[in-house]
Amino acid sequence: MSQENKNSVQTTGHVWDDDLQELTNPLPRWWIWGFYITFTFAVVYWLFYPAWPIGGSYTKGVPGFNSVTYTATTVDGKQVKKTTHWNMRSQFMVDMNELTALQKKYFDKVASMSYEDVSKDAELMQFVNSAGKTLFSDNCAPCHQAGGQGKIGFSPNLTDDNWMYGGTYDQIHTTIEGGRRGYMPPFSQVLNDEQITQLANYVLSLSSEPHDPVAAKAGDALFHGEGAACYYCHGPDGKGKIQLGSANLTDKIWLWANIPADKTQEDKVNDIKNVIYNGLAKGVMPNWNVRLKPEQIKLLTVYVHDSLGGGK
Ligand code: HEC
Ligand code: HEC
Repeated sequence: MSQENKNSVQTTGHVWDDDLQELTNPLPRWWIWGFYITFTFAVVYWLFYPAWPIGGSYTKGVPGFNSVTYTATTVDGKQVKKTTHWNMRSQFMVDMNELTALQKKYFDKVASMSYEDVSKDAELMQFVNSAGKTLFSDNCAPCHQAGGQGKIGFSPNLTDDNWMYGGTYDQIHTTIEGGRRGYMPPFSQVLNDEQITQLANYVLSLSSEPHDPVAAKAGDALFHGEGAACYYCHGPDGKGKIQLGSANLTDKIWLWANIPADKTQEDKVNDIKNVIYNGLAKGVMPNWNVRLKPEQIKLLTVYVHDSLGGGK
């Protein structure tokens, strides 16, 4: 081939500015094939799958070819099987059904195993942690806070190893299932202000907080005597009773009297006096047996015990 032939290409014959020509090179073969293949694919796809809008509806594709079957729950709670042509919603329902089946498998496993065995099963614990976190944020976090750390004056901390109602699996389970309602009677009618001040000083002495030793000694006698009879609920050692959820008064953990936040000695005494004067009835932990399924309560028990920490 001569040099001239190689350079000669077909043109449309249009020429601008003396030498600017419009070429008519054929399209590359790969491009042509690509075009035919995508074109064919599109036509086949339009026929088989939902594609073109027509008025308020759309073409549904070849019936039976792209059908999707899933289980749906009706408004009145019945489970029904539905078959429709493929669409995003039905595919979503299929995915949800699969997820629910997988979740059910794990929940059944938790329900059938002992707490100790669940705790030792690393794969199952991953599920407990993620499902437990969701259940906890939905139901418990409004009171116990997102991380379970609780709030003084409102709800107890679930992340420490201090338990008013006991920290074993069974005790935590009983708490969640049936709820708890700590009750301490008001003493405003029974004791005078001086006696209540003495008792407050004794309570402070139990956890080695600064206190008036003379008042505390008189408070000790009242605490263990029949006049105030605090020992009846808090125990002779002041450590509380888990059957009653009566606070352990000998540790530095406070739920109602906010001693750590009090700046002056007077504030500390007054905080405790308030509790003794008015009693306590606001510690209400709801019962969850009416709102959660047994397997959800069991899973939450493991979550609180193992994952929030501090379980016994
Ligand atoms: C309406 C607020 C509220 C909600 C919601 C709530 N709790 Fe409680 N919970 C409390 C209070 C208040 C107490 C302390 C009861 C008392 O003082 O007698 C408590 C106590 C507990 C205890 C016992 C702590 C101890 O020291 O023995 C556990 C365990 C517990 N809750 C777990 C849960 C779980 C799990 C959930 C979610 C399913 C939950 N709570 C939802 C308010 C709540
Ligand atoms: C009928 C049983 C009962 C008697 C009697 C009783 N308490 Fe209590 N007390 C409780 C319970 C239960 C709680 C915890 C309430 C809760 O958490 O919902 C509590 C809580 C307290 C607290 C709050 C601790 C905190 O963490 O903030 C103090 C202080 C206290 N009691 C002191 C006393 C003193 C002093 C007496 C005697 C005058 C007394 N109690 C008598 C049942 C009792």
